[in-house]
Amino acid sequence: MAFPPAFLDELTARNPIADVVGQYVNLKRSGSNLFGLCPFHGEKTASFSVSPDKGIYYCFGCHKGGSVINFMMEIEGLSYPDAVRSLAKRAGMEVPEDEQYQSRYRQQERLWALHKEAARFYHSQLYAPGGAEALRYAQERGMPKAILTKFGIGYAPDHWTALVDALRKKGYTEQELRDSGLVTVSRKNGSLFDRFRDRLMFPIIDVRGNVIGFGGRILSNQDKNAAKYLNSPETLIFNKRKNLFALNLAKKSKQGYMILVEGYMDAIALHQFGFDCAVASLGTALTEDGAALLSRYTDQVVLIYDGDTAGQNATRRAIPILEKAGLQVKVLQMRDAKDPDEFLKKYGADRFKILLEESSNRVEYQLGAILKKYDLREDDQKVKYLQETAELICTLGSSVQREVYGGRVAELAKISPEAMKLEVSRAYKRRLAREKKQQEKIDLSPARNLQPKSRSIRYDNMKSAMAEELVLSQALREPALLDQTRDLRPEMFSSQLLGRVFDQMLKRHRQGLEVSVGGLTDLTAEETAHIAGIAQRQEGPVNEQAFQDCIRTIQEEYQASSAKTEDDLMALRNKLKQSKGYQG
Ligand code: GTP
Ligand code: MN
Repeated sequence: MAFPPAFLDELTARNPIADVVGQYVNLKRSGSNLFGLCPFHGEKTASFSVSPDKGIYYCFGCHKGGSVINFMMEIEGLSYPDAVRSLAKRAGMEVPEDEQYQSRYRQQERLWALHKEAARFYHSQLYAPGGAEALRYAQERGMPKAILTKFGIGYAPDHWTALVDALRKKGYTEQELRDSGLVTVSRKNGSLFDRFRDRLMFPIIDVRGNVIGFGGRILSNQDKNAAKYLNSPETLIFNKRKNLFALNLAKKSKQGYMILVEGYMDAIALHQFGFDCAVASLGTALTEDGAALLSRYTDQVVLIYDGDTAGQNATRRAIPILEKAGLQVKVLQMRDAKDPDEFLKKYGADRFKILLEESSNRVEYQLGAILKKYDLREDDQKVKYLQETAELICTLGSSVQREVYGGRVAELAKISPEAMKLEVSRAYKRRLAREKKQQEKIDLSPARNLQPKSRSIRYDNMKSAMAEELVLSQALREPALLDQTRDLRPEMFSSQLLGRVFDQMLKRHRQGLEVSVGGLTDLTAEETAHIAGIAQRQEGPVNEQAFQDCIRTIQEEYQASSAKTEDDLMALRNKLKQSKGYQG
C-alpha cells in the first residue's frame, strides 16, 4: 500500500534514525557518522554506520542498509506497513490508512487478542477440576508451578466445544473462530468444535509477545492412534517456519549464544534448569527463516537434537542452514538420555553444563559422524574414511587446525601424520581444481569487484555505472546539484535501477520534497540497501566539476551504446540483404 509522501517525510523527520537505531545498537560518533556493532551479522569491530544527515544506516560488512523504516523492518521482522505503523506510534502520529490494509491489520489484532484469551482459558483449565489429570501429568514430568506460569502452559478440556463456547461468550464471531485455527468445522453440518481436546497446551509466543498459536500434547503415550503433538495450522498470524518456540524469552538471555532443540519440553526444561537461551523449532525441521530469525539475536548456536538417527540426520541438515545465516555452530552429542529434557531431570544442571562445555565445534562433530560410517579394521573402508575426512579437513582455513584434526584422524586410522597431510593436500588440490572451474564460469573481468554485492543488481556498463553512482551519491548529499542535470535523462543511465532512483530524486526535488534514501519508493530491500551503500560511500567534498564530468560520461556511454545498437541493426540489415537478395 502507498502512504502519502508528505506523511512519510514527516514520519522520518519525527523518528531521527540515530535515536531509533540507538535503541538497538550502541553507537559512537566518528566524524559525521555514528558507528556500532552491526545487529544483522556477528562482528567484533564496528562496521555498521548511521548517518543522521542522510537518514540512513549502512553496514560495510554485510551490506545491509536503508532508511529508518527499512531498519525497523529488518530488526523487528516487520512488513513495510507494520514498520511505518510502529514508527508512527513511536512519534505519536496518526497513520492515514488504506482500507484493505487497515482491515487486515484489524483482523490480525483480533486474532492476537483471541489467542491471548484462549491461552488464559487453557491456563485456567489446568487448575479447574477437569484439569486434575493434566496437572498431575505436568507434575509427573517435573514441571513446577513457576514453570507452568512462566510458559503459560494450560489444558484443553476433554470436551467438544469448551473453547468455542468461551470465545463466543467473549464476543468473537464465527469467522474469527474459523480464522484462528483453534477450531475445526464439522463436515456434516458446519458447526464448530475445538481442535485441541484433552491435551496439555503450550502457547507459542512471537518475539513481540503475541500468542500466535499452540502446541498440544496428549497426556499419555498409550493411545498410539493419536498424534503425540498437535500444532496450530498456519493462519494469518502463525507461520511455523518463521517462528521459534521460547525465543520471546531467550532473546533476553545474556549468555551470548542460543541453544536450539527439537521439542517444546526440551526448551522448557532448559529454561527451568537455568539455561535461559534455549529455543525449539516448531514441529518442523529448522528452516532458513528460522535460522535468519535466530541470527538476529545471536551469532553462536549450540545444536542439541535427540541422540537417535532422526536427530542425527536433522543435525546434519541444520548445520549448513545455520552457517549460511552467519551463525557459528556447535553440536552437543546427546548421550545417557534421549533428549535434554530427560537428561536434565535425571542428572541435573551441573552435569548438563559439563556436556555443554564439551560440545564440539562443527568439525569435531562431522569427523565423528564420518567415523561412525566406517569400520577402520577393513582396509578399503579405512581408505574411504581417510579420503572423506581429508575432504573435510582441507576446507579449514588455518594450517594449525588442519594439522590438529589431520593428526587426530591419522592416529585413529593408525597412519603417519605425514601420510595424512599428503591426503589432505591432494583433497585440497582437487577442491581448488573444482573451484577454479566454477570460477572460470563466472565472469573473470577485473570489474567484478565493483559489481554490486547483490547479484540481482549487476551492472552492464561499468564505466557508466560508476559515474551514475557518483551522480546519485553527490546529489543525495547536495540536492541542489539536481538543478544542474538538465541534460541528463533517466533513460541514459546504463543501470536501470540507478536511472529509476535518479528519476525519483529529480521528481521529489522539483516538488520541493526532501531528497533522501528514505523518500525512495518501489525498491526491494536489496535495492534499497545498495542505494544506501552508494549514499554512504566516502567520496570527499561535493565537487561540481567531477559531478559534471560524470554527467558527460553517462551521456557519452549512452550515445556510444545507442550508436552500437544502430550499428548492429545496420549489420543485421546488410546480412539479410545478402542472404535474401533483399532490396532495401
Ligand atoms: P515429549 O515426549 O513430550 O518429551 O516430547 P519430545 O519433545 O521429546 O518429543 P519428540 O522428540 O518426539 O518430538 C520433538 C518435537 O517434534 C515435538 O516437540 C513436536 O514439536 C514435534 N512432534 C513430535 N511428535 C509430533 C506429532 O505427532 N505431530 C506433530 N505435528 N509434531 C510432533
Ligand atoms: Mn522428550
